Amino acid sequence: MAKTETVSLRPRGLDSIHPMASLSGLLREWLPRQRWFAGKDRPVTDVTLLSMTELYPGCLHVLVHAEHARPRTPGDTSPSGDCYQLLLGVREHLPPRLAGAFIGRAEDGPLAGLAVYDAFHDPRSAALLLERLRHPGTAGPLAFERDPSVPLPAALAPRLLDAEQSNSSIVYGDAFILKVFRRIQPGVNPDLEVPSALARQGCARVPAPVAWIRTTRPDATLGVLQPFLPGASDGWTLALRALAEGRDFTAESYELGQATAEVHLALATSFPTDPRSENGPVAAAMAERLTAAAHCVPALQPYVPGLRTAFDTFGACGAGRTVQRIHGDLHLGQVLRADREWFVIDFEGEPSRPLAERRSVQSPVRDVAGMLRSFDYAARTRQPWHPEWADRCRDAYCAGYADGAGSDPRAEPQLLRAYETDRAVYEVVYEARHRPDWLPVPMAAIRRLATRGG
Ligand SMILES: Nc1ncnc2c1ncn2[C@@H]1O[C@H](COP(=O)(O)OP(=O)(O)O)[C@@H](O)[C@H]1O
Ligand SMILES: [Mg+2]
Repeated sequence: MAKTETVSLRPRGLDSIHPMASLSGLLREWLPRQRWFAGKDRPVTDVTLLSMTELYPGCLHVLVHAEHARPRTPGDTSPSGDCYQLLLGVREHLPPRLAGAFIGRAEDGPLAGLAVYDAFHDPRSAALLLERLRHPGTAGPLAFERDPSVPLPAALAPRLLDAEQSNSSIVYGDAFILKVFRRIQPGVNPDLEVPSALARQGCARVPAPVAWIRTTRPDATLGVLQPFLPGASDGWTLALRALAEGRDFTAESYELGQATAEVHLALATSFPTDPRSENGPVAAAMAERLTAAAHCVPALQPYVPGLRTAFDTFGACGAGRTVQRIHGDLHLGQVLRADREWFVIDFEGEPSRPLAERRSVQSPVRDVAGMLRSFDYAARTRQPWHPEWADRCRDAYCAGYADGAGSDPRAEPQLLRAYETDRAVYEVVYEARHRPDWLPVPMAAIRRLATRGG
């Protein structure tokens, strides 16, 4: 029987005999070094406990709130931190195979002297999580739930995917993949909500969730188990391979356009749509993001007047097209190809955005623009640069989309330009902050988008 301690999603102080007395200091050091940790640019001032559930002796499921130092503006009452999901193992001695998962040796509190590690790396803990999902039920605030119509075999060998991602994923026997969300926001995660709804529509382009983990106080999605597509390659890997071999990628791009359209149609059937959204507020928000971006990245400033014409033209179009639920973060890394078919994954949207925004209706052109930018990125990874390779992929993708959706995104160039510009502006800020070597990639698009139709 799991032992549990729960508190509301509000941080609180802890006394010295609580395990957090052993863990806070270790986590304050360890969290900011994790790929999935969001607040890297600000020091963590405090780590407080939200819930702790002992899944089995030596394995704690923990939700913590990491508090950041940040300059406060008067009247700003927004939360200064994020909630994270951890699975912590505690042992006297850590075997060498878990050395990479070591968090630290506790110095104080009830765990003093013991080694604490990230238990998602521990096959024993990973196997236990699958067992919990096979036998639905609760453990304190945690709820393990599943689709009873899908058989889940026992004892599938787990392996943690080591790719640098924004979450942690465990593959079980090449049959299922459990994605464990790291940063937790209250509410249903679209990566559970959307694939479940699409599966009910019979959309075969998206692996259907077969089991999931929730916390119930408050309701938030913690993880989703889906069928694993064995032998699948993601679109980014395939595009780079084609480039390296000097191969054309238009047939795949065309089919990817068709697959995107199919998913958009299924989304429009599964969720409410708004057929008469106004372009004005969307264009205004894009222009605001541009102003903020130019403030952060001075290299953008000479292009601001040209880029603004993209948003002005778009905004002046008045009543727009139908808006609907979309993918929200579509690029070549979010699509998988297996058995010559494309599949779309990772419907979380941009994890840095609030959940309500990620679940709102938006133009499907935003997804199309994301994928078009991705072809550009892929082509730019090769020297010498072959812009025409990306242009051919982009055209084929739009043609495939038109074939699937019945409307060609290229038929409304002002819409496409606005969304591509908005995306490129986001990329400029991201690259300037995290990967300055990559900044020339979106800057080349910025130059093109600032002049075209300007
Ligand atoms: N159903 C699946 N079948 C095979 N591989 C998958 C599947 N889902 C995810 N993956 C692999 O896991 C990686 C990360 O998945 P994703 O959902 O995009 O997580 P993240 O939010 O961390 O980006 C993918 O790029 C892919 O390599
Ligand atoms: Mg992803």
